[in-house]
Amino acid sequence: MPPNGIHEVHLNLNVRGLPMSATLAVNELSARLQSEGREIFRLGLGQSPFPVPPPVVEELRANAHQKDYLPVRGLPALQEAVAGYFERTQQLRFDPGGIIVGPGSKELMFLLQLVYYGDLVIPTPSWVSYEPQAHIIGRHVHWLPTRPDNDWLLTPEELHRLCEKDPTKPRIVILNYPNNPTGCSYREEQLRSLADTARQYRIILLSDEIYGELRFDGGHRSIARYYPEGTIISTGLSKWCGAGGWRLGTFAFPKELDWLANAMAVVASETFTATSAPIQYAAVRAFCGGMRIEDYLRQSRRILRSLGTGLHARLEAAGLQVTEPTGAFYLFPDFSPFREQLAARGIQTSDDLCRHLLVETGVAVLPGTAFGRPASELTVRMAYVDFDGARALAAAEQVAPHEELDQDFLEHHCPKIVTAADRIIDWLDGEGERPE
Ligand SMILES: Cc1ncc(COP(=O)(O)O)c(C=O)c1O
Repeated sequence: MPPNGIHEVHLNLNVRGLPMSATLAVNELSARLQSEGREIFRLGLGQSPFPVPPPVVEELRANAHQKDYLPVRGLPALQEAVAGYFERTQQLRFDPGGIIVGPGSKELMFLLQLVYYGDLVIPTPSWVSYEPQAHIIGRHVHWLPTRPDNDWLLTPEELHRLCEKDPTKPRIVILNYPNNPTGCSYREEQLRSLADTARQYRIILLSDEIYGELRFDGGHRSIARYYPEGTIISTGLSKWCGAGGWRLGTFAFPKELDWLANAMAVVASETFTATSAPIQYAAVRAFCGGMRIEDYLRQSRRILRSLGTGLHARLEAAGLQVTEPTGAFYLFPDFSPFREQLAARGIQTSDDLCRHLLVETGVAVLPGTAFGRPASELTVRMAYVDFDGARALAAAEQVAPHEELDQDFLEHHCPKIVTAADRIIDWLDGEGERPE
């Protein structure tokens, strides 16, 4: 016991021993290798490569003087802009009062789990933070299995199998599409049947649509269209607007869930108080849309589609199992076809695989374990974002809209992604760079 008697045994039990996130571990090793002069390909961190659209930056500049605390649920003009956005893009009507703005959607997810006393149900694989948040708060977590041959999507049958055991148990189910880590999304009929099952068991559905605008074909549909009374839509500026560091997320509640929004607002008032004022003013511009934002989104999707489909084709041709992405900026390849060769190199788990890939090729990716996959499964998440997004956007504008952005474009404007794929493929052939 240290002399002042202040000791780590007093840490909250739910937090004690919580491991460092996989992202941080990969970042630390990457930084060390880079300081030793190695070239690192940063496919680990899921950050948008694109700059914030200029009209949104202009709005932030014009509002730098905004200094007052804003209402806890958000700037009324922003609540209206977000409601207008859902009406324009999804034909969904939200009362602006049912929109809550927070410092990132992650923070709002934490508050939701804190105020609602229910189990957390998430498909595996799922984004890295849902489960630790539930753990910190002390909620039970149920992982629901998915299959790669079904694009890792949750089926109504799996949801039904869990719920029928205890039909009235309170639950929050999180659906995320386009998905982190797989890049896959649901088709309309799949959303409709999941909505039917959710309604049958009165589930609270948190629909994490933070990558919705990055569906490559621009045709994102919210499940709230089919289960409006029980769905909360989560989105924000971090991914489609390239503004992760601005920290702005938003939840849209139907009037049936007013009581939940009210409880979240009470806790928000005792924790973050309100989201940064200048950022909220700028976000109004982002959610109101318009030609310049539409053009920015069209080019962003075009670049991501070429990268995602091109990488998918190359990795598949090299023998990896990988589902074709339809949005976001992730791929989730499975290296199991190479299990024997990899075992001979001492690689048994996805953690081993990531460490070896980073040290032997310089390519940083995250292990499937970080997304709730079994340790022995050789899956990794590749975030294909290590390129200069501003340059790539400017170059894409010069290519006629009906033309594909071809391999030549990718080699010129996303060279590190192309080289990272080359290195992984060579490494699988046993030709990888070896540590000195
Ligand atoms: C699936 C998913 N949901 C939510 C978030 C959190 O976004 P933010 O807190 O920046 O709004 C992320 C960020 O990586 C994500 O990938």
